[in-house]
Amino acid sequence: MSNGKDIYKAKCQNCHGENGEGLGQLAPPLTDSVFLKTNKNRLACFIKNGANESLMIHGKEYKEKMPAFPELADIDVAQVMVYITNSFGNKQGFVPYSQVSKHLQNCK
Ligand code: HEC
Repeated sequence: MSNGKDIYKAKCQNCHGENGEGLGQLAPPLTDSVFLKTNKNRLACFIKNGANESLMIHGKEYKEKMPAFPELADIDVAQVMVYITNSFGNKQGFVPYSQVSKHLQNCK
């Protein structure tokens, strides 16, 4: 059994930092609660499939590529989402697994 925090430490922290602070120009911080809320329905897809587009985080543009994590099961994606959206100053509450599964079936 792994939980969101373990997954984060193992797979995300190198780039996004222990406290979600990001890595200079290379990786955006995870502390922009407005971005996280606005993109709520896309986070699962970012996490599983990576991202390669221009994203505005805290008013700064990021365009590096985030790798995909195809090995993460839907439940892992849900748990890591709960972790990041309720850490680093974020307080979004519970993320239902069923919703994450649905989003992952509809990634573009
Ligand atoms: C190799 C470095 C790297 C790793 C590892 C990585 N990311 Fe990212 N992440 C990025 C980059 C770069 C972007 C910006 C992508 C873009 O501009 O399209 C990003 C964007 C994001 C975003 C959306 C933007 C934001 O700041 O809110 C989220 C959410 C996110 N990553 C979560 C995760 C999670 C969860 C993991 C672990 C499962 C992870 N990342 C692992 C580099 C990384």
